[in-house]
Amino acid sequence: MAGSLHIATVGDIHCGPVSGTKQGGRALELLDGFLAHADRQSPDIIIELGDRITGVDRETDIANMGSVSKAFAAQSIPRAHLVGNHDVMHLTRAENAEILGQPTGHRVVEVKGWRLIIWQADVTIRPGEGLPRIDDDLAWLMAALKEDGKPTVIFSHVPVSGTSMIGNYYFERDQKAAFYPDHGPIRAAAEAARNVVLWVSGHVHWNRVTDIRGIAHVTIQSLTETFTTPPHPAGCFADIRLDDESLRIDTHGRDAYSFSMPRSPMGDGGWLLPKSAEPSETSRTTLAAAE
Ligand SMILES: [Fe+2]
Repeated sequence: MAGSLHIATVGDIHCGPVSGTKQGGRALELLDGFLAHADRQSPDIIIELGDRITGVDRETDIANMGSVSKAFAAQSIPRAHLVGNHDVMHLTRAENAEILGQPTGHRVVEVKGWRLIIWQADVTIRPGEGLPRIDDDLAWLMAALKEDGKPTVIFSHVPVSGTSMIGNYYFERDQKAAFYPDHGPIRAAAEAARNVVLWVSGHVHWNRVTDIRGIAHVTIQSLTETFTTPPHPAGCFADIRLDDESLRIDTHGRDAYSFSMPRSPMGDGGWLLPKSAEPSETSRTTLAAAE
């Protein structure tokens, strides 16, 4: 049986200059607020969802990544970091790891009987093409899910819900940069495992919950984003609490929300598959009667 687990999460810190709607100059002050909150709440682990910086150039990015790293290193709660698309614009994933003093590849962290999968799929966005297919990363995820049946939470920088981006400042008109082209097979792999309770991501800079076939897909708003709370940064971060019965998410900041749901029973076959576009028996009968 898994115990009660408390995860504090923050993402899309975007330390750096003002860029579009991102107030990167406020990043370190807002990050200090998150870390003070974490210090008071004593979560079991902190997960940082990637995009620590706004990519500018190599020298600037090393300096800003160093500032973010220093803030995290000043506290003692165990932590895991994802790499976001901005983090690898001018730096390698290995350089991210070196500056953070933390690993940055795929990995599994076990806490209180839970498996936390830190899924570091490719986050490179190519102009005009968007995010790439991630076949190798998917193969790693499928193998990791097969290894163990413990209740599992997956974390990735890019969400895989494929949910609507209508209203999103960055992605309503650029959905190829919001999701992997193969987000359907990725979700199917998690659903087939029957032990994934929650999937948490950043990247799309808003708070959203989409429950698909018993897995809650959640995105957490960026710490410095202003498009939902103009002209102020949202200052958002979240507490996630899980136990055998339920999951609860409380986000903090200017567009805070709270959400809870019972944990889906595992191994019951999940939701029915969507109905086919073929006419049903009933509508066929109705059509025949009308002819
Ligand atoms: Fe971001």
